[in-house]
Amino acid sequence: MAHKLTILLFLLTMLYGCSKQNKIEPSSYLLSEQHRPVFHFTPDSMWMNDPNGMVFFKGEYHLFYQYYPDSTVWGPMHWGHAISKDMIKWTHMPIALYPDSLGYIFSGSVVIDWKNTSGFGKHGFPPMVAIFTHHNMDAEKAGRSDFQYQSIAYSIDKGRTWTKYDGNPVIPNPGNIRDFRDPKVIWHNESQKWIMVLAAKDKVKFYASTDLKKWSFESDFGINGDKRLWECPDLFPIIVEGSKEIKWVLVVSMQTGAPNGGTGTSYFVGNFDGHKFTNVNKNNAQQWLDFGTDNYAMVSWSDIPDTDGRRLMMGWMSNWQYAQKVPTKKWRSAMTLPREITLCYTASGSFKLRTKITKEFSSLRKDTINIELTNISDHEYILPLNQVGLYEIEMTFVKTNDIAFLLTSVENDSIKVGYQKTTNQWYIDRSISGKSDFYDGFAARHHTSSNVDSTIVSMQIIIDKASIEMITEDGMVAMTDIFFPKTDMSKIILMSTKPKLNIKSLTVHNIKG
Ligand code: FRU
Repeated sequence: MAHKLTILLFLLTMLYGCSKQNKIEPSSYLLSEQHRPVFHFTPDSMWMNDPNGMVFFKGEYHLFYQYYPDSTVWGPMHWGHAISKDMIKWTHMPIALYPDSLGYIFSGSVVIDWKNTSGFGKHGFPPMVAIFTHHNMDAEKAGRSDFQYQSIAYSIDKGRTWTKYDGNPVIPNPGNIRDFRDPKVIWHNESQKWIMVLAAKDKVKFYASTDLKKWSFESDFGINGDKRLWECPDLFPIIVEGSKEIKWVLVVSMQTGAPNGGTGTSYFVGNFDGHKFTNVNKNNAQQWLDFGTDNYAMVSWSDIPDTDGRRLMMGWMSNWQYAQKVPTKKWRSAMTLPREITLCYTASGSFKLRTKITKEFSSLRKDTINIELTNISDHEYILPLNQVGLYEIEMTFVKTNDIAFLLTSVENDSIKVGYQKTTNQWYIDRSISGKSDFYDGFAARHHTSSNVDSTIVSMQIIIDKASIEMITEDGMVAMTDIFFPKTDMSKIILMSTKPKLNIKSLTVHNIKG
């Protein structure tokens, strides 16, 4: 009997010990679909690409997006719709715009027509006006080259229902530009006009209007000799950090030639006089908003109130190289986290954008652990975590050594992110991160050079089951990658060649499911 009791006690102790060590919090996300992000926006089902028409109105952030409700691959485009109070928790809304006799509904923007210049408003209520590209598939199939043109639609019930303008299209195709799309419209206060920036093959075109219906061509902007396809432009003024100077940022997504391959979001910094954009960064004219492979068609929210004053952006967290093949079943693609963008003038004499994850995200933090640095005695240190797959890590360190986080799953898939001293590079290595046979070249290491001379640098990484967003050097470098582990990552090992000397602070947040 005593013998049996001892065995029972022993077993109980073992069980208690185990459960204490691997304290995994069961929550509903564990039961949800494989690879479905928890705190990134995904469509409830089916195919999604670019964010469209992001606008803030009466306390609601709107997100429209390229959506095909009948399949998990690209097809006849609609505008899906979601709203949020904080850009983090989203409510799905009915589809906003359906294809019609003029074509599929391609990417575009939404403005609040505060002065009712369009006349669509009623009873003093300003209309929301969507400006988008109609893509006429029949015309394309018939061999024509004028199958893309710009149209508008409006809503006078806070974006719940939309009416297409009966004078569409408002900008017909000039006749020979096959790629003529993705209008982004802003109100230009100085000239009291609406300005549209539009992607036209290998450049952008600017148009102006007083009523959103009649548009006049103003100018072109491009790079001499560039043959790449330009898409999803954006244009906004921004104050240079620590000054009163205003510069203009022209964002353009590129279909090829992103820093780590495939599609990516780039930008130029310069001046805009209401007619023409002039780039001022001479040596390094085209720069990148993100150095990972998975942040495309990133554009900014319109009509953020002056009292807030932030420039907020979000991108599509995929890459056209493999977006239609990624191993998710019920839906395809997610958006990045919303990001706040500022502009700084660097020591090397050029203007650069700085990226921060919006402060609203921090409301999802729970069980924050500030790691006692004296506990990190070895070159490898296992971070204390209490759930699977959803984490944020913040670290500051001295750039004198290699330093990395290795995330692993019970199936031994892994992803490694960090800083390499010999090359002075930041990297995300997803070469053995799980499923990758859907695209040759998915299993790869992505990297970019460090920008700053300062030796103490910051590094933040956010993991949401199948994605990693890394922001380093106080926002000067952003890298976003997706990955598909067979089971979610559950262990994180900090690896450093000199942990005692180079780590200055380390915080782990578990993120609410
Ligand atoms: C960018 C893009 C846009 C186009 C849309 C079509 O990803 O190719 O240029 O409007 O997707 O879905």
